Amino acid sequence: MIRIAGLTKKYHETVALHDLHLEIGAGEIFGLLGPNGAGKTTTVRLLTTLARPTSGEASINGYSVVRHPEAVKRQIGVVPQHINLDQDLTARENLELHGRLHRIPRGERSVRIRELLAFVDLEDRADEPVGRFSAGMKRRLMIARALMHRPRVLFLDEPTVGLDPQVRRRIWDLIREMNRNGTTILLTTHYIEEAEMLCHRVGILDRGRLIALGTPRELKRRVGEYVVENIAGGETQYRLFTGREEAIRYAAGLSGTVTIRETNLEDVFVELTGRRVTE
Ligand SMILES: Nc1ncnc2c1ncn2[C@@H]1O[C@H](COP(=O)(O)OP(=O)(O)OP(=O)(O)O)[C@@H](O)[C@H]1O
Ligand SMILES: [Mg+2]
Repeated sequence: MIRIAGLTKKYHETVALHDLHLEIGAGEIFGLLGPNGAGKTTTVRLLTTLARPTSGEASINGYSVVRHPEAVKRQIGVVPQHINLDQDLTARENLELHGRLHRIPRGERSVRIRELLAFVDLEDRADEPVGRFSAGMKRRLMIARALMHRPRVLFLDEPTVGLDPQVRRRIWDLIREMNRNGTTILLTTHYIEEAEMLCHRVGILDRGRLIALGTPRELKRRVGEYVVENIAGGETQYRLFTGREEAIRYAAGLSGTVTIRETNLEDVFVELTGRRVTE
């Protein structure tokens, strides 16, 4: 559904994205994970035709983002990182406007608006100006808006940033439900938990480069499935092990506060880069 070959974006001296190669199949939930400035938004902007690549190519459902941006736009829905709703309009009016832009006929438009307001649980607030909404409600409305024209592929750039845990889970449920209905999903996140809980496959971006790719399970296996954490003298040391027995044996020889736990994607990132995803 998404094919990316050698995609590169430079802003003057900054290489925001370097030679990305990636294929994402129909029906996948794919997560691009990486710290601030890794190139996540750049990737989304290139794939959604909002920015032009410096070099390389990408296509969505067979349509080139460079040569056929209009066709690409019909295939995709986009939930950008920053809220870009019209705050003076109501929820319904925001959807109405988007439906018109996409030339959805009036009858279908009103059916679709009703369905989507129910889907994101905003029926009761449909006729209030969006300016009064909470961050979670705005995010849900942006998801509804992106789905108006029934896209094959949905891009969500940091869909749950700044939201409280309950709202995040609600958004995850919405994403899973859209996916069950056949939508291919590419999301970006710097939340390790989000990538682990939600994504079939994850690509880890660091400073514009894809440094790892696979299912969360595969990535954890690659670096070792067990971590021994040792807090001694105010400093935490980590060591990764393939086998549990091995980890236990190592831990037995340590003094200080020792914990053995399963590896997570944060550990994968630290192992590959020597840094953490989140500060
Ligand atoms: N329009 C632009 N002009 C100049 N530099 C840019 C522009 N957009 C992005 N960059 C640079 O490209 C790099 C990647 O930025 P990008 O926004 O893609 O990162 P990100 O992974 O989305 O980060 P965040 O988690 O903060 O959203 C950064 O160094 C950024 O400063
Ligand atoms: Mg970003």
